[in-house]
Amino acid sequence: MTEVRLNAVQKRFGAFTAIESIDLDIKSGELVALLGPSGCGKTTTLRMIAGLEAPTKGEVLFDGHDVSDVAVQKRNVGMVFQRYALFPHMTVEKNVTFGLDVRGLPKKEISERLEEILEVVQLNKFRKRFPAQLSGGQMQRVAIARTLITKPSVLMMDEPLANLDTKLRGEMRRFIRDLQKRLGITTIFVTHDQVEAMELADRVAVIFNGKLAQFGAPQELYQQPNSTEVADFMGASNIFSAKLVAADRAETSFGTIDIMSQPGLKPGNDVYVMLRSEGIDLYPESEAPQGAQNLISGKIKAREFFGASVQYVVGAGEDITVAEQSRRLLDVGQPVVLSVQPDRVWTIAR
Ligand SMILES: Nc1ncnc2c1ncn2[C@@H]1O[C@H](COP(=O)(O)OP(=O)(O)OP(=O)(O)O)[C@@H](O)[C@H]1O
Ligand SMILES: [Mg+2]
Repeated sequence: MTEVRLNAVQKRFGAFTAIESIDLDIKSGELVALLGPSGCGKTTTLRMIAGLEAPTKGEVLFDGHDVSDVAVQKRNVGMVFQRYALFPHMTVEKNVTFGLDVRGLPKKEISERLEEILEVVQLNKFRKRFPAQLSGGQMQRVAIARTLITKPSVLMMDEPLANLDTKLRGEMRRFIRDLQKRLGITTIFVTHDQVEAMELADRVAVIFNGKLAQFGAPQELYQQPNSTEVADFMGASNIFSAKLVAADRAETSFGTIDIMSQPGLKPGNDVYVMLRSEGIDLYPESEAPQGAQNLISGKIKAREFFGASVQYVVGAGEDITVAEQSRRLLDVGQPVVLSVQPDRVWTIAR
């Protein structure tokens, strides 16, 4: 298992700076997702770790050793891409062992590794088939097996599920997650889908415009984003301008509310407050709880029904989105009262 570290890594292509300066430490056996919009520098970062691209500045360390001068083949990394490019005229078995065959490993070792890996990726039944006879998920598993059989110490995946339909993507995510935990292999997974990143990763590195915006556990990014950009990218809906009137109170356009105080923020500071849509309680006006904290009056402006859950937009000076379980449905136009616990209000410096 290998620990990967990027120290002030920069990448320029001519006059264009693709990566400004990224620091990242990936623990041995950890699954880290690189998340960000198209063109932010995810693939470039991955390619520098793999050795397919040299950093303009900074260094890439594997277990504390600078690998700048170590060639791709010697870094012992495995790459899985979006387009898995299997050999169409070769069976699953042949596709999986191809890399070892060309390296001239002893036949016995190849066949032992093959048995082991087919078991791991559950492709035993399909070993004699050709790629055209496989589903998308099965092909993706062949691509993963082909990489894993080389026993890489770091596994890198660049949007490997982008070609699959939604349901299969979900299954493959769980498959990759389980496999990675079982093998304990340090893994870097590139995606621009925040749900995918949160479901898969131990930690997520959010990259915007070639800069690391935030690096942390999924729940940390979701609940405690350090900027409105990260909040927005993680799917937050309620972000409003406010002013702190006390360390734990903020004045908003829908009233003054109690918030969780945060180090570094003082009375008088202009801030943003973020109210998580699933952290807000919604009551018909007549059932408003007495004496609850942070009561906000409003009217339902829109309702979207998703089956198990329902989402309301409540007009209350600002439009506040509230997500509820759909045990009961309230109507558009209905006067309502919202209540939010102070520890569900996150504050971001402005
Ligand atoms: N070889 C190259 N020469 C010049 N510019 C490049 C080169 N490779 C990448 N870039 C630029 O660097 C930036 C980052 O590219 P990169 O491929 O890392 O983005 P990405 O985050 O992987 O995007 P996507 O989600 O679309 O795959 C882009 O603006 C891209 O045009
Ligand atoms: Mg890319």
